[in-house]
Amino acid sequence: MREYIDKLYETQSLTREEFFGLLANRSEETDAYAGKLACQVRQREYGDRIFIRGLIEFTNYCKNDCYYCGIRRSNSNVQRYRLNEEDILECCREGYALGFRTFVLQGGEDGYYHEERMVGLIKAIKKEYPDCALTLSVGEKKEEVYRAYREAGADRYLLRHETADEEHYRKLHPKELSGARRKECLKTLKKLGFQTGAGFMVGSPYQTTDTLVEDFLFLKELDPQMVGIGPFISHKDTPFRDEANGILADTLFYLALLRLMLPKVLLPATTALGTIHPRGREMGVLSGANVVMPNLSPVAVRKKYQLYDGKICTGDEASECIGCMKRRMERIGCRIVTDRGDYKG
Ligand code: SAM
Ligand code: FES
Repeated sequence: MREYIDKLYETQSLTREEFFGLLANRSEETDAYAGKLACQVRQREYGDRIFIRGLIEFTNYCKNDCYYCGIRRSNSNVQRYRLNEEDILECCREGYALGFRTFVLQGGEDGYYHEERMVGLIKAIKKEYPDCALTLSVGEKKEEVYRAYREAGADRYLLRHETADEEHYRKLHPKELSGARRKECLKTLKKLGFQTGAGFMVGSPYQTTDTLVEDFLFLKELDPQMVGIGPFISHKDTPFRDEANGILADTLFYLALLRLMLPKVLLPATTALGTIHPRGREMGVLSGANVVMPNLSPVAVRKKYQLYDGKICTGDEASECIGCMKRRMERIGCRIVTDRGDYKG
């Protein structure tokens, strides 16, 4: 399968059949080869620079009921919270002092944060921090709403497509949600000029080689500026409580393929990857990732934003987390930079 890895490296694309062959015939040797090449491509594109994003989990209220997610609306064991504008600005202040120049507002689909309130919040953050990038990750909205967020100053948007295969999508979500609509949202976000991030969970229930091939082909076609992938991890209060977690080696291999396919993409080594292995994020970077997203949410609410069991970094102050992350990156020959870290296409 080396020839497919070489081809992906040289041409940044593969046919459906080649992707299938590559994903279905793995070995430790080919995994290592892909990782090595991907690490070289990251070095070529970004050197030893790793970008940091300050993640602010500002609400765990959600109107959706995705079967995998710990904060789904049917989970009555969740203690719901939302941060107000002042709380969020305080997180930004702390983050700014620590060197963050990108803030990521992530939350459930919470009706309290309707268009007008979000626009006010976006404007307030951009007014106080005009030199920072603002990323939103608040789910599916109408085009007019996305446009209003963009006009208010939001720069980027993360919306994982979760799976590009419609049948698989239906097995992960209740029937009111549709994969086609999610993909439409991603196209709209790109059109509106957001640096856009798609992505999927590795090892989500019912994922197959076929559905993964669809993911890679979809990502190639969408050509997003960011891709978020991390292992699925079960949550005890969801219908998928007994499902197996995603596998480390699979996640690292797919990160490597993404780096080869989209050489300039901004690719995080996610918290979920750090949760399934103590050095998961370092290994992610060594497989081609170039972004880490330490948590800036107030410690008091961290444990309540529990998408999956065992989530790391829920007890640490942001300052400790960033110090820890700096050391982790230095140990593998990389360095965290204070930079907006925009996509340079
Ligand atoms: N509500 C927004 C949305 O729908 O995009 C953002 C928040 S949502 C909780 C963020 C991401 O968490 C999802 O896109 C999903 O891929 C991931 N996630 C949810 N449950 C997970 C689980 N059990 N294991 C791993 N990742 C999970
Ligand atoms: Fe959060 Fe290590 S990165 S405590």
